Amino acid sequence: MNALPAVGFSLPRLFNRPSRKGRLFVRSWLGEISTLIGFSQVGGWPWFGTADAMDDLMPWGRGTLVTRPGTGGGGDSLEPNPPEHFSRNMPFYHAPVLLAEVIELLQPAPGKLMFDGTLGGGGHSEALLQHGARVVAMDQDVNALRHAKERLKPYAAQFCALRGNFRHFPQIVEETGVSGFDGMLVDIGVSSHQLDDAARGFSFMRDGPLDLRMDTDSPRTAADLVNTADEAELMRIFFDYGEEPNARRIARAIIKARTAHRIQTTLQFADIVVAASPKRGKRHPATLVFQALRIAVNDELAALHDFLAAAPRWLKPGGRLAVISFHSLEDRIVKQTLQHLSAPFIDRPEWPEARKNPDCLLKLITRKPVQASAQEIERNPRARSAVLRVAERLPT
Ligand SMILES: C[S@@+](CC[C@H](N)C(=O)[O-])C[C@H]1O[C@@H](n2cnc3c(N)ncnc32)[C@H](O)[C@@H]1O
Repeated sequence: MNALPAVGFSLPRLFNRPSRKGRLFVRSWLGEISTLIGFSQVGGWPWFGTADAMDDLMPWGRGTLVTRPGTGGGGDSLEPNPPEHFSRNMPFYHAPVLLAEVIELLQPAPGKLMFDGTLGGGGHSEALLQHGARVVAMDQDVNALRHAKERLKPYAAQFCALRGNFRHFPQIVEETGVSGFDGMLVDIGVSSHQLDDAARGFSFMRDGPLDLRMDTDSPRTAADLVNTADEAELMRIFFDYGEEPNARRIARAIIKARTAHRIQTTLQFADIVVAASPKRGKRHPATLVFQALRIAVNDELAALHDFLAAAPRWLKPGGRLAVISFHSLEDRIVKQTLQHLSAPFIDRPEWPEARKNPDCLLKLITRKPVQASAQEIERNPRARSAVLRVAERLPT
């Protein structure tokens, strides 16, 4: 399992003990762990961007979007003024989407313990910390952890970051001695930093190795996949994960091209897709195919399924789960899972009457998906496809 955390020993149940002694212990514990593994504390920068908006790869303003500390849940405003840590010349990483909405719905406060499964640039985590909550965060990307560690240094006593895939969070988080959260967030997809760094191979607009791995220790790159999968498998990936109408034609073109030479780079791959696609619309013809490849390489939908299956039991009564997704495949999974987990009864045509749902652990907080305001989309076009859904753990 490539996702296991770098923390290899059991830690005391620190986060359930907010005493001064406990806090001091957390501080020294975090210091030790960070020395040992290099990135257990978070820091970071602002990023922006979203998972799915592969057609938004134009260079984008490097403004900083941050919450103003201390304005209280729901009262946060996104401010163009850089906070203190930007004056330390921190590079731009990612602008968190739906930040005010997440804070309003997750209600971070002193004494609360939150989980951020997609730390990224640390924007959401930072806002949770600014509201006084303690945060256990995860990311599978070492770069993200490194950057967030730097950004969130001022919150070291409240914060801990672990490397790993959020699909394995129960095993990873258990190591810290934490047994439940007041709030859990995943903001799935890729960060702007991942998209912008040509060496990561996430963008078909920049030449780089055809990689697309969020976890650079995972064994299979996108190039491995496109050079070894058979035509049927490639077609399934493009169709199932990209809803690409020309899946068959593109899969064939790839098989043909790779008989001449291995497909190595993003632009080489994009050129094959463009040549196999009829010209239509404003969207770059490689958009959906790249999305599909990324989902396949990182096994993103299965990871989301696994996370949603485990998360509700890790919420304390009244604790909230928030999921931000960026395309319909993900949102469908989130919507259907939350609907099932919040339905008191299930009915099937073959049953004489509805039965009690043994999985009913949640109540829906957002009946309709929450989307970015026009102002946020104007500031950050990548927020336009973001969809937030929130549910709350029932009291028993
Ligand atoms: C959209 S960014 C998150 C941005 C973050 N909320 C912020 O405010 O900066 C997504 C991040 O989640 C990470 N990620 C995506 N899927 C993951 C998974 N299954 N497990 C762990 N990290 C994941 C990516 O590596 C990336 O850093």
